[in-house]
Amino acid sequence: MNSMTITAMREKHLDAVVAIEAEVFSDPWSRAMFFQDMQADCAHCYVAVEDDVVIGYVDAWFVCDECTVNRIAFSKKKQRLGNGSTLLSYVMQEAACRGMKTFFLEVRASNMAALRFYEKAGFIKAGLRKAYYSDTREDAVLMSMTVFS
Ligand SMILES: CC(C)(COP(=O)(O)OP(=O)(O)OC[C@H]1O[C@@H](n2cnc3c(N)ncnc32)[C@H](O)[C@@H]1OP(=O)(O)O)[C@@H](O)C(=O)NCCC(=O)NCCS
Repeated sequence: MNSMTITAMREKHLDAVVAIEAEVFSDPWSRAMFFQDMQADCAHCYVAVEDDVVIGYVDAWFVCDECTVNRIAFSKKKQRLGNGSTLLSYVMQEAACRGMKTFFLEVRASNMAALRFYEKAGFIKAGLRKAYYSDTREDAVLMSMTVFS
């Protein structure tokens, strides 16, 4: 059992967030991109903290009754420990409490770990966006989940 806590993302967290971005993504978001996103009314961004260190984060948008998960990541040494599942559940719970009914996200077709992660969480493949990623022209798998209450 770890001591991970989840809290709203603040400017003070951004150095750690962009360090994880650079570690795990081939197309990392910049500090300015996160900062700009955090100002948007629809954005809900959270960090996962362990022993005062940011180990992961999620960036999601809540619009009407749709939640889009834009980014979720953990530093490599904190992956495959259940942390991602805990954080994804947290943001989805926050979204559901605010009336979100459908959840969407895109994932690189080659990102098998993330595809398995989302499928285990209950997402299903809903479509393919051809050559979606500008860096590699790789396809994006669109995944979705609808929550009925
Ligand atoms: C995707 C990510 C957020 C998942 O978080 P995590 O804490 O590693 O995932 P969890 O430990 O909660 O794993 C839950 C399930 O996802 C699947 N999974 C996670 N990592 C996996 C891997 N490397 N290979 C295969 N399945 C994997 C498994 O089914 C796992 O359950 P299990 O461990 O009981 O088999 C994390 O791996 C990550 O930060 N990846 C890099 C960034 C990224 O790709 N983000 C998603 C972009 S769309």
